[in-house]
Amino acid sequence: MVYEGVALCRTSLMNNLDVNVSQLKLLVSKEEIKEKVEELGGKITETYAPKGCVIICVLKGSFVFTADLVRCLQVPVMIDFIRVQSYGNQMASSGEVALIKDIEMNISCKDVLIVDDIIETGYTQAFMLKHLAQFNPTSIKICTLLWKKGLLKTDIPIHFYGFEVSPSFVVGYGIDYAERFRELPGIYAVEV
Ligand code: PRP
Repeated sequence: MVYEGVALCRTSLMNNLDVNVSQLKLLVSKEEIKEKVEELGGKITETYAPKGCVIICVLKGSFVFTADLVRCLQVPVMIDFIRVQSYGNQMASSGEVALIKDIEMNISCKDVLIVDDIIETGYTQAFMLKHLAQFNPTSIKICTLLWKKGLLKTDIPIHFYGFEVSPSFVVGYGIDYAERFRELPGIYAVEV
């Protein structure tokens, strides 16, 4: 099932900066998210049992997802954070990913799971895979809550994902529009 909002790209939203709550259409409820995060937690637990893994949370968008996901795991994890930016003030990905904050943990000989909130072009994850590989982890896998399959422009492996969404612009559950709406418990499509 694809969760569909109004087709809207980041570029078109640039012309409409004054988005308000009445323009948000619920795509995925907090109950559906909870159920899906528990399901993902089960799959990840199976994959990494009994040793566990290092979780790398991609800031800022995945801070809510990561916090919920790690509490659904039945394996030991260590958690680190990385911050990269591909959009900056632009609403369309430039394809150039900037590293804003690197990991602090030694991941050499560790199984690593990158946790992101959304994958669109995949440029961010392509960068992450290359960047983290230089630290010689045993393995790197990718988990994303949302996946806009139709927008993928890179050949990256997506090992775990929660929901496929249409190319609508989404906010909530950590995901922002110009730094707003990250606190919403559900995921919403922005309608203009
Ligand atoms: C978003 C999102 C992903 C990335 C996905 O981050 O959190 O990390 O874009 O896009 P891509 O697949 O096209 O590379 P953003 O740069 O908006 O930063 P934020 O998480 O701090 O809001």
